[in-house]
Amino acid sequence: MSPTASLSIRKATVRDVPSILQIVNEYAKEQVMLARSPLAIYENLRDYVVAVDGEQVIGCGALHVVWGDLAEIRSIAVQKEAKGKGIGKQVAKALLAEADALMLPRVFAFTYVPGFFQSLGFRVVPHSELPHKVFSDCLNCPKFNECDEIAVLLDLRPIEGTFPQTGPLSRPVPGLFQGPFPLSEGGAASSEPENDQDD
Ligand SMILES: CC(C)(COP(=O)(O)OP(=O)(O)OC[C@H]1O[C@@H](n2cnc3c(N)ncnc32)[C@H](O)[C@@H]1OP(=O)(O)O)[C@@H](O)C(=O)NCCC(=O)NCCS
Repeated sequence: MSPTASLSIRKATVRDVPSILQIVNEYAKEQVMLARSPLAIYENLRDYVVAVDGEQVIGCGALHVVWGDLAEIRSIAVQKEAKGKGIGKQVAKALLAEADALMLPRVFAFTYVPGFFQSLGFRVVPHSELPHKVFSDCLNCPKFNECDEIAVLLDLRPIEGTFPQTGPLSRPVPGLFQGPFPLSEGGAASSEPENDQDD
């Protein structure tokens, strides 16, 4: 089914935040998405686009840059009564166009609806291919130790550049899982990881 003629996708404004919260947290109650606080939306507002039918916000989604080679699609959702009309796809395409404009090589998502992302060209990948995800949302997720979401990844362009690329997390991260960073003699946290071997 095609989206309605009056539908438009645009960047979110502060006035859209109540609608975004309502859409996302309605699904969060059903445990199909992560809940978002008003602060989390305001702080990341420039990540968000909204789907608007007339004056009404009926969908939303966010593109969050994680690293030089990776961004995440977050909080993509369409109001229940508007599902299945191609609106989610339009929101995702707007986010992917932003990722492309930012020259990002890869976009990923964690999801319970891989079919939706596969329809956009994403492929299912092991979680271990997405190391930086561990450092952001996952740390706040109640399912941190029992994640059952499916990771999907889309390659937009070859990875280039001189910055350290994301890669599989093949070594422990000092301080994250094993207590605080070691203190130097002066009492300040050391900036050097204990094991700085290349992978
Ligand atoms: C997932 C969601 C955003 C999709 O939005 P939508 O407007 O209903 O989807 P669309 O109509 O744009 O569908 C686009 C494509 O995805 C497919 N698709 C949509 N939902 C799907 C699902 N649950 N499983 C498999 N495929 C799905 C459609 O068949 C369509 O495929 P096509 O382009 O080959 O015809 C929407 O269903 C939703 O809000 N779900 C609840 C929240 C959620 O789970 N969000 C994802 C968080 S990562």
